[in-house]
Amino acid sequence: MVQDNDTSAGASRFEPQKVWDPAIRIWHWMLVFSVVSGWLLGEFRSFSTMQWHIYAGYTTGTLILLRIVWGFIGPPPVRFRALAVGPSTLKNYAGKMFQREPSGVAGHNPVGAISVILMLVLLSVQVMTGLFSEDDALFFDGPLANTVSGSIRTTLTAYHHLSAKAILVIVLLHVSAILFYLLWKRENLVKAMITGWKIVRK
Ligand code: HEM
Ligand code: HEM
Repeated sequence: MVQDNDTSAGASRFEPQKVWDPAIRIWHWMLVFSVVSGWLLGEFRSFSTMQWHIYAGYTTGTLILLRIVWGFIGPPPVRFRALAVGPSTLKNYAGKMFQREPSGVAGHNPVGAISVILMLVLLSVQVMTGLFSEDDALFFDGPLANTVSGSIRTTLTAYHHLSAKAILVIVLLHVSAILFYLLWKRENLVKAMITGWKIVRK
């Protein structure tokens, strides 16, 4: 694993750099908590815990809104401009992705950037559809469910179920990618998301 003070020839092409600001780091770990708890409270719901599912959903929704603001006014690595990756950059990076060395990008790598956007979109869909969802078995409605017709409610509830599954898949892929970077590319991205310091190519 490449350490901050590694003096080997390979590591000398990299240097530690402060990449993630405190807000994005706190934001990320709060999002992990709200999404994991919200997902579990939704999947294993009962009448007595459903209100907690809604609270977790509001928390996720608030975090998404804050992230959108941060995407415009935050530091360069978290701006949406940095996440907008063109096909040639993506192709270029994908070709080198399996090389056994850290990516050394001072922000999200191009593949990571795409997955970040996908996660933010899916979570937004999840919160928006949740507001209009209904649970017939528990007689529990989302706060805006009675503002739309029964058939729209049924459709949006179906989308809420579907995107919950998509979120599970993308989060599993996200964590697998982090493990791949750690074990194959010897790049500890988790440490960077905790401390803010990342190994960056000189
Ligand atoms: C519900 C679970 C999770 C969700 C929804 C989630 C979501 C995200 C999002 C949206 C980002 C991009 C941050 C940004 O906005 O710029 C991100 C980055 C990151 N996440 Fe997660 N995450 C989850 C779980 C985890 C877990 C369990 C880990 C640790 C094993 C982790 C480690 C990271 C790391 C290291 C990054 C930075 C990646 C990079 O360097 O490009 N995440 N995550
Ligand atoms: C304010 C936001 C949200 C509201 C109001 C809401 C509301 C609901 C309602 C009413 C149900 C029951 C639907 C039914 O029984 O058919 C449900 C199920 C569920 N929700 Fe949410 N939700 C919200 C956000 C979220 C978020 C952010 C997640 C994921 C992180 C999530 C994950 C789930 C899951 C996994 C289920 C169970 C789906 C299934 O059984 O297939 N919800 N939600």
